[in-house]
Parts: sequence; structure tokens; C-alpha cells
Amino acid sequence: MLAGKTAVVTGASSGIGQAIARRYAREGAAVYIADVNDTGGEETAAGIRDAGGRATFVRCDVADFEQVEATLDRAAQESGRLDIVVNNAGISSGGQPVGDTAIEDFRRVIDVNLMGPFYGAKFAIPHLRKVGGGSIIIVSSVYGVIGAPRTPAYATSKGGLIMLTKQMAVDYSHENIRVNCICPGFVDTDLGGRRARMSPEDAARALALREERAALQPIGRQAQPDEMAGAAVFLASDDASFVVGAILVVDGGESILHNWGKYF
Ligand code: NAI
Repeated sequence: MLAGKTAVVTGASSGIGQAIARRYAREGAAVYIADVNDTGGEETAAGIRDAGGRATFVRCDVADFEQVEATLDRAAQESGRLDIVVNNAGISSGGQPVGDTAIEDFRRVIDVNLMGPFYGAKFAIPHLRKVGGGSIIIVSSVYGVIGAPRTPAYATSKGGLIMLTKQMAVDYSHENIRVNCICPGFVDTDLGGRRARMSPEDAARALALREERAALQPIGRQAQPDEMAGAAVFLASDDASFVVGAILVVDGGESILHNWGKYF
């Protein structure tokens, strides 16, 4: 579905971004993996190439606009075109309410989760114009749509992404630049490597709590990262030619559920 296209996927060294990059490559796109995790990025790119796809890892901190611009320029120059940018890289926040959130922690989450996609979208525009249009996909979260306990920086960044999507969609769709958003629910990743930094016992407890909470959602489980990739393929493809400013919630029903009961 994406033959002949070039895509940049941020945060594709692991998790959802990695699943999207692999799937894009299988669909025929040349994929650039933009991430701060060199090992994961190189391995992901090598794995795609071993499977017969086209992939390049570029070290890029999405909170640094010069690095984002340089990454998009490089992808466009090397491939001769840029068609798709998936702004997926993100970090979680500290798990405190606003009163206990350090200012620098809040700012870092906004820098990565909100400014990063803004840079990724802004610097993509000239390249997409050159090829007569393209697709910008922004990965937000159900926590951009509904409230959750002790998640102020993360939820604020993700809510901002929804309006960034709509704002850009209004301004650019007449140029055939389609901007859309995916809001995942519980996905089986270690977002931000939090569990990797815990003791094995704490990590097991955190995972068990997450699975317990996911089991309470209508679908009763976490998603696998691959279950986000189909939405990202659709939004990038010509099948979505009239899909503009969509907030595609892929959450197993989490956001339609009313009460978190004891987890508050
Ligand atoms: P992950 O931690 O596996 O993937 C995030 C990737 O972003 C990592 O490869 C990491 O190295 C990269 N990254 C972090 N900071 C970066 C920076 N400054 N510059 C470039 N790359 C950076 O986690 P996951 O779950 O795959 O997260 C992907 C996106 O999905 C995030 O935006 C996250 O907020 C969103 N999401 C995840 C959900 C989940 O349940 N896992 C639910 C809703 C949204």
C-alpha cells in the first residue's frame, strides 16, 4: 500500500513506532527510524533490511528542532522524496499530581511529546509540498481525550497533539497534506523504559498492575504494538485520501468506559 513512498517514523527503536516502521517497510515504503536509542534503532533498521525492506536509522532527539529538521531533510534528499511522517516518539511523566510535579519534568514532557511532533510536522511541510502532498500522523493517547490519575504533563501534551492535528488539518488539507492522529489505549510496551529501570520485583508488580487495569477495559487486555500499525498504514495510504483531521482512537474501548473505581 505504500510502495514508492518514503516515511520517517520517530521513536521507532522500540514499541509502537518499531511496529509501524516494520509494517511500513513490508508495505513497500523506504523507512527512516528517528530515535535517541541507537542500539534499538540500528537493530530495528537491520532487521527490516534483513527481511528485504529498506530502512535507515538516524539518531534524532525530537526535542531538538535542528535535529528534527536535519533528519527530515536527509530522508528527503537520500530518497528523492518524503511522503509520510509519523510523530510517535514520546515519554511518560512522573506519576504525580500537578502540585508535586517538578517544573523541569513537566517541561521535558512537553518538549518531547508536544514540541517534538510540532517540529516533525513543521519541517515536513516543504518536503510534502514538493511531492504534491502527503500524510502526517501524530501519535497521541486516550489520555489526550479522557482524564487519568496523576498524569498531568503527559495528558496535557497528548491533549495538545489533538488540537495540533486539527489545526494543521484545517490549514493544509487543501494542499493534499493530510494530518491525522492515533490515540492508543493500553499497549504492551515499556513506555519510557520505566520498568527496565526498576528492580525485577517492582517491574513485575508494575506490569501486573498494568495488566490488571487493562483487563478492566471493554476488550479486557492490552494491545500488541502491531495492533497500532494497521491504523498507521491506513492513514498514510491512498485509502485515507479523504480522511483529514481524524482522531482515530485505537484503545479497545478504554475511553468509552466511565469508572476506574479503586484505581483512583
Ligand atoms: P516506547 O518507549 O517503546 O517507545 C518510545 C520511543 O521513543 C523509544 O524508542 C524512545 O527511545 C523514543 N524516544 C523517547 N524520547 C525521544 C526523543 N526525545 N527523541 C527521539 N526519540 C525518543 O513506548 P511506546 O509505548 O511505543 O510509545 C510510543 C508512543 O505511543 C508514545 O508517544 C506514547 O506516548 C504513545 N502511547 C503509548 C501507549 C502505551 O500504552 N504504550 C498508550 C498511548 C500512547
